[in-house]
Amino acid sequence: MYVSTFFRVYLPPHGIIPSMLAVDSHTIEITSRNPEQTRRIGERLGGALQTGDILCLQGDLGAGKTTLVQGIAQGWGSLDSVSSPTFILVNAYRRADEKKGGTTPPLLFHMDAYRLDSASEAEELDLDSMLAEGALIVEWPERMPGLIPTENLWLTIEHTGETEREMKFTASGKRYEELLKLLREDA
Ligand SMILES: Nc1ncnc2c1ncn2[C@@H]1O[C@H](COP(=O)(O)OP(=O)(O)O)[C@@H](O)[C@H]1O
Ligand SMILES: [Mg+2]
Repeated sequence: MYVSTFFRVYLPPHGIIPSMLAVDSHTIEITSRNPEQTRRIGERLGGALQTGDILCLQGDLGAGKTTLVQGIAQGWGSLDSVSSPTFILVNAYRRADEKKGGTTPPLLFHMDAYRLDSASEAEELDLDSMLAEGALIVEWPERMPGLIPTENLWLTIEHTGETEREMKFTASGKRYEELLKLLREDA
């Protein structure tokens, strides 16, 4: 814990994150050149996530979705380590309660829809309840069409080289444009 705080102070992410191309107010593109950069981008995003936020991660196997989620969980302040929720579909990561005795701390939900077999199976996943309790990240969101809220932050990750990934963030809705703005301003 102490060590990661130390690094966050003395090695700010913007020293490591590569150039960010703001395409317009709801799109940005980032090239990640290695897994560490991807985790840094995630860390910054994780620091900005709030209860009710949904982030969709689209990209082939090995694109780096789970690697990004590791960074998000760290930036978000997760007490738990990230694993791929392939068999249990949804992981929930806890965060320490900032104000002792206060409200229940929010959860960070991490869903992997890759193994969803049918639309009815997808419908059993209660996204709304999760969004009421925390933020939600969905890998393979395209496997549950119609269930993802129309307002979301959608990230596509493309494999463009052995360790190079092209990331494109698209914000739909005011809250998500706000999130993108935070990501950019931090750069
Ligand atoms: N720039 C990069 N960003 C993310 N992962 C990368 C990058 N370059 C290489 N990798 C490797 O690609 C793999 C991505 O795996 P993972 O994050 O599990 O992908 P996914 O969840 O999309 O299937 C890891 O082995 C990681 O080390
Ligand atoms: Mg994965």
